[in-house]
Amino acid sequence: MSGDKNMKKTNPNYLSARESRAISRRNRKITREFERQNKRKNVPKREYLTEMKDNNNVVEFDNLNTYFFTDVGTVKAVNGVSFDVPLGKTVGIVGESGCGKSVTSLSLMKLVQRPQGQIVEGEIRFNAGDQVYNIAKTPIKEMYNIRGNNISMIFQEPMTSLNPVFKIGTQVDEVIALHSLDIFDSSDEVKKSSDGKVKMTKEGKSKVKKRTMEMLDLVGIADSEKVYNMYPHELSGGMRQRVMIAMSIACNPRLIIADEPTTALDVTIQAQILDILKELKDKLNSSIMLITHDLGVIAGMADYVVVMYAGRIVEKGTVEEVFKSPSHPYTIGLMAARPGVKKDANRLYSIPGKVPNPVDMPDYCYFRDRCEKRFDACYGEYPGEIQLSPTHFVSCYLYDEGASKNE
Ligand SMILES: Nc1ncnc2c1ncn2[C@@H]1O[C@H](COP(=O)(O)OP(=O)(O)OP(=O)(O)O)[C@@H](O)[C@H]1O
Ligand code: SF4
Ligand SMILES: [Mg+2]
Repeated sequence: MSGDKNMKKTNPNYLSARESRAISRRNRKITREFERQNKRKNVPKREYLTEMKDNNNVVEFDNLNTYFFTDVGTVKAVNGVSFDVPLGKTVGIVGESGCGKSVTSLSLMKLVQRPQGQIVEGEIRFNAGDQVYNIAKTPIKEMYNIRGNNISMIFQEPMTSLNPVFKIGTQVDEVIALHSLDIFDSSDEVKKSSDGKVKMTKEGKSKVKKRTMEMLDLVGIADSEKVYNMYPHELSGGMRQRVMIAMSIACNPRLIIADEPTTALDVTIQAQILDILKELKDKLNSSIMLITHDLGVIAGMADYVVVMYAGRIVEKGTVEEVFKSPSHPYTIGLMAARPGVKKDANRLYSIPGKVPNPVDMPDYCYFRDRCEKRFDACYGEYPGEIQLSPTHFVSCYLYDEGASKNE
């Protein structure tokens, strides 16, 4: 017991076993209630169908809050995030590791790790064309149709998404058979059995293979017949990522989520993959949510940029606005930390300090302890969002005319 007390004195984040048990009991109670809601059957459509605020958007995140209820406390991974993804545009999401980029996109797919991860507040409106879903309220069963048919996802490491024991052709064929129903003349040509396996007639199979080859050609795989018969480990990282892209566009998705799609690749391959994504986006008129640490990738690909810090958006705007006049001290720091040809490669700028503990976020500006520009007003509550132009927003007291600037 006295050991416990000493640990507590030296480490403010220390939890005794008793405290941890109490937190865990409390959080299990909360997640049980969310799960009860998630597992409801026959939810009427009016509970999860909604309207877009602007029909020119494919997604509208509106005050999204996604938390993880863990045994050591509640992690507010996404904490009041609002931004739009316009139709046919690319929105880049940038921010350092752990700031909530992936959890934002997983919330949209309803793939946040349950039961501890839950959307606790806010709306994600997804425009599927014929109807608009409020994803937070959409039953999991309905999500199976949305994923793959309307939204697809490309991950950082394709090896973890491709099944190592099946040939590339078999894997792409399966996705096409499940999602490209337009290629079949009748429903007899393809059938999904109760165990989830796809069964096809000979005609069905040859139509699927033809579409698979077209897709592999489209993503720049030269020898598609050979690749069709190869296993994932026989391909290079760049080739595997091309296969993943082929799978993700097979259903003409309205939205492609690319989570660090090129981080594992070398620079020349990275450029090729990004070019393919850009080309396909224009061909399919899809939108892209592009998640990356790399501002260079954002500059080359995105129309809009969202900068996240510790679960919140600190700045958002068009790519020109954020790159030409970065306004939040964190964004300015990110820009300065970018390697450039003119800079001395041995003296890269890094933002001093670290992100606050996610289970115990302060009630003031999360960036304050690292901010060189902090002044009196920053000792107040978390800054609200300030509009700098019709499309440019920043959450920082420096732009709040009412805030006192006496240092
Ligand atoms: N399954 C989980 N259980 C508990 N906490 C989680 C879980 N998944 C994510 N988190 C927490 O949520 C926060 C946001 O994580 P997220 O994966 O969205 O970060 P990210 O911005 O994508 O980072 P990276 O750039 O490293 O991929 C982090 O603090 C992370 O520790
Ligand atoms: S609100 Fe203050 S502490 Fe926070 S980023 Fe702006 S200047 Fe820095
Ligand atoms: Mg991530």
